[in-house]
Amino acid sequence: MGEQYFANRPSSRRRPSEIRVVLRGHSLTFRSDAGVFSREAVDRGTHLLIDALDLGPKARILDLGCGYGAIGIVASRLTEGGPVILTDVNRRAVALARANLTANGITNAEVREGDLYAPVAGLAFDDILSNPPIRAGRAVVDQLISDAPAHLPAGGHLWLVARTKQGAESIRARMIEAFGNATVVRRGSGFKVLRSVKEVA
Ligand SMILES: C[S@@+](CC[C@H](N)C(=O)[O-])C[C@H]1O[C@@H](n2cnc3c(N)ncnc32)[C@H](O)[C@@H]1O
Repeated sequence: MGEQYFANRPSSRRRPSEIRVVLRGHSLTFRSDAGVFSREAVDRGTHLLIDALDLGPKARILDLGCGYGAIGIVASRLTEGGPVILTDVNRRAVALARANLTANGITNAEVREGDLYAPVAGLAFDDILSNPPIRAGRAVVDQLISDAPAHLPAGGHLWLVARTKQGAESIRARMIEAFGNATVVRRGSGFKVLRSVKEVA
C-alpha cells in the first residue's frame, strides 16, 4: 500500500515535480514531491476553496494542513500584507511550502511544523483555512473544528472544503456544533466550501 500523505516523515522515494498554475489571477509555481497530498496538480477542492476566499486586507490567516502551500500562498497575496502562518505535520510538505514561499516571493508568511494547533498555541487569526486531512481520520478533523473557535476573535471565520459525497454534510454538522452556524459558500466539482463565523459571545 502507498504511504499516506499525512505521514510525519515520508520515506517514499523522492519524485520532485513542479506545478505552474494561475490562481485568483496570480501566476504561481509550486514545487511538489512524492509523499505529499495532490502531488501532480492543485486538488479540485483546494481550487474551489481558493476561488471562494474573501479575506480582509491585513487579515491574520492560518492555513492548517498546508501541504506544499497552495492555499496559504494565495491567501498571502489576497490579504495584502496580513501575517499568514502555514502548518503541517508532514515534514516534507513543510520543507516544500517553505521553498514555495521563497519561489513565489512571499514575504508575509511563515511555515511551522506540527500537529493541528500546536504550532500556533496562544495565537489568534481572522481566518482559518483548510482542505482538511480526511484520511487522517474523523477524530483529527473533529478536533480541527472544535479547537478553531479558541483561535478566532468574534467575527473570525473557519473555512473548510470537503467532498459532497465524502462527509461534507457531517463536517457541516460538526461546524454547527462548534460555532452555531455553517454556510455553504461555494459548490462545484463535487465539493462544497463551508464557512462558520464566530459569533459575539
Ligand atoms: C487534504 S491535504 C491538503 C493539503 C494542502 N492544503 C492542499 O490543499 O493541497 C491535508 C494536509 O493536512 C496534513 N495533516 C494531516 N494531519 C495533520 C495534523 N494532525 N495536523 C496538521 N496537518 C495535518 C497532511 O499532511 C496534508 O498535507
